[in-house]
Amino acid sequence: IDTEAIENIVRPFILSDDDYRKLMDSMLENFNKGLGKETNASARVKMFQTYVKSVPDGTESGDFLALDLGGTNFRVLLISLDGKEVKMESKIYLIPQHIMLGSGVQLFDHIAECIFKFMKDHDLMGKTLPLGFTFSFPCRQIGLDRAVLTNWTKGFKCEGVEGNDIVKLLHEAIERRGDIQVNCLAVINDTVGALMSCAHSDNSCAIGLILGTGTNACYIERLENVELWDGDWDEPQQVIINTEWGAYGDDGALDFVKTEYDRKVDKHSINPGKQVYEKMISGMYMGEIVRLVLVKLCKHGLIFGGRGSEELSTMGRFYTKYVSEIESDVNDHFKNTKQVFEDLMIPNHTEEDCRIVQHVCCLISTRAAYLASAGIACLLNKMNRPDVAVAVDGSLYRFHPHFHDLMVEKITQLLNPGIKFRLMLSHDGSGKGAALVAAVANRVQQQKK
Ligand code: BG6
Ligand code: GLC
Repeated sequence: IDTEAIENIVRPFILSDDDYRKLMDSMLENFNKGLGKETNASARVKMFQTYVKSVPDGTESGDFLALDLGGTNFRVLLISLDGKEVKMESKIYLIPQHIMLGSGVQLFDHIAECIFKFMKDHDLMGKTLPLGFTFSFPCRQIGLDRAVLTNWTKGFKCEGVEGNDIVKLLHEAIERRGDIQVNCLAVINDTVGALMSCAHSDNSCAIGLILGTGTNACYIERLENVELWDGDWDEPQQVIINTEWGAYGDDGALDFVKTEYDRKVDKHSINPGKQVYEKMISGMYMGEIVRLVLVKLCKHGLIFGGRGSEELSTMGRFYTKYVSEIESDVNDHFKNTKQVFEDLMIPNHTEEDCRIVQHVCCLISTRAAYLASAGIACLLNKMNRPDVAVAVDGSLYRFHPHFHDLMVEKITQLLNPGIKFRLMLSHDGSGKGAALVAAVANRVQQQKK
């Protein structure tokens, strides 16, 4: 085997700490630009204010519906809050590809139909429950219950939604049906859900992080730093900012670390030039980056005796879950790796091929974990609190065998002295978090009556 030739191909994925520090500096500039009144319009990282000011205090109660759109699964949930106790029922509904790429009216009619089915199955017909909507796309919020989609990300592209208030679109779809009533009180991002859900039990939690189909983070910012703040200045003088950091790099800031594979993934995506940081990190793209490297290694005769397969040559056919499976092989004679090769109909493979492919997966997932770490370290340094819990959710973080450890190691290296942090898995943030925010909004609405 030609180790040198292989290393030459994969070397661009290995970045130095200087690279990561450089990236943190430019990320901080981007965060501040997004927060600035004069600079927000031209900023790529939008730093949207969420109108979520307080984290739950554990006294929230009542029954709520929640919608969870934008991750691997679309779900409708019923959540009963009673102090710290949370009961939850949920159902996954499919969103077919033609709807993901169809019209907004079709999408919201479909969502309304799923709510109808859910309410019917759960004996909720005739009731008007408050609803929290976890909508995991970039939205400029005008209030807790008004959220204008700025642009679709990940696999969605429905016409007629960008530039519109999604709460209005949802309520219109429900009115078109006429057979159910819901009262959507709050729209939140999945990062905010993760943060709220952890803060419910741990009040040091101040960052929400998603590492799944996409990647994004939110954090608690002091109002004095949010130049565009137009809400109230009551205590606490803070608000959750949805960074939408996936768009970091859209202005070329990441060009110095991009590889030819990143460029290809971007070029063939439905949003070329957009979500550059997200495309180097998240689950929707990681498998494809690995695949492109494997195709190249194969073409140079460095793996599989130079013979790949039609599957391996098919865009999108190497799933990100393979990366987790392959990297989970230790001392088991590459059981998972060989299974993946079989799925991909690779005609001939050796143990050496397994080792090389595992090495490739490892370099690409490590780069992703370190890139995300640079983002978190940048936020932690900026916030400058002594002790912060980071709530994390998403399939990539959950299922990858080393993502957590890699991140702890790298964040520790990049952090300013005197700051402590923890990464904690958030459970069902998009359901529980949406219900908690709706509960607080409901309380406020009742008080006003
Ligand atoms: C899940 C949430 O737990 O995490 C989703 O319910 C969220 O709404 C998700 O978007 C992120 O992960 P993924 O891997 O499903 O994109
Ligand atoms: C994408 C979305 C963002 C979401 C993230 C994780 O980056 O734009 O809103 O939080 O994916 O799901």
